[in-house]
Amino acid sequence: MAHILGIDIGGSGIKGALVDTESGELASERIRIPTPRPATPDSVAATVRELVSGHGYSGPVGCCFPTIVVDGVAKSASNMGEEWRNLAVDETFSAATDLPFTVLNDADAAGMAEMRLGAGVGLNGLVITITVGTGIGSALFYRGHLVPNLELGHMAGKGGISIEKWASDRARKDEGLSWEEWGARFDAFLNRAARVCTPDHFILGGGVSKKYDKFREALTVATPIHVARFRNNAGIIGAAMAAMDQD
Ligand code: BGC
Repeated sequence: MAHILGIDIGGSGIKGALVDTESGELASERIRIPTPRPATPDSVAATVRELVSGHGYSGPVGCCFPTIVVDGVAKSASNMGEEWRNLAVDETFSAATDLPFTVLNDADAAGMAEMRLGAGVGLNGLVITITVGTGIGSALFYRGHLVPNLELGHMAGKGGISIEKWASDRARKDEGLSWEEWGARFDAFLNRAARVCTPDHFILGGGVSKKYDKFREALTVATPIHVARFRNNAGIIGAAMAAMDQD
């Protein structure tokens, strides 16, 4: 049974754990290191190296990253910074650790974990996982197949600004919004996403999924919402699965 290291690079923390890719359970302690500031390729690669050695790990690594990722290359800067745009993230981390890296978008990884072993099992049709944290991530599955790099957080909001700037968990914290106020914003986001994509189901992941009871009353969207089984670990788990698929 394969235990693969999964790493989730986020705007505020870099988290990693060994994952039992058959059950989706974590097979080691989860280590979290604050994302270095500034989060340059060198500083983040050094943190990734620290996580790998913290687990005494050698083998293929799955890593999810908070930008558009095509063939291991970051295709947007998002909340990471311009130096990442067009950088081969997989090669950068491989060079820092001497291990093979599979890199994919963080929401795509979280969605994969949920579809295979979590809240998405048995859900058919069009399923969108939404992860809410520093940004808003989205992953679209049609009949179980991932259509990568859906970026619903970048639909235009007021004044043409990405809607995630207004509806993410960071916006809630920065603007000191109550759960009810933030819930109304998130509801507007979900309604817009439903209008654009006509999903059969939403799966809600990321940090706020643990607080669902605090804002569920504010949601009017008609699409059924399922709370992610793996909560904040879904990215780590899906990343490890992606690395296993690569083998
Ligand atoms: C990025 C997405 C990412 C999401 C969650 C957004 O700002 O554009 O690629 O999935 O944040 O981290």
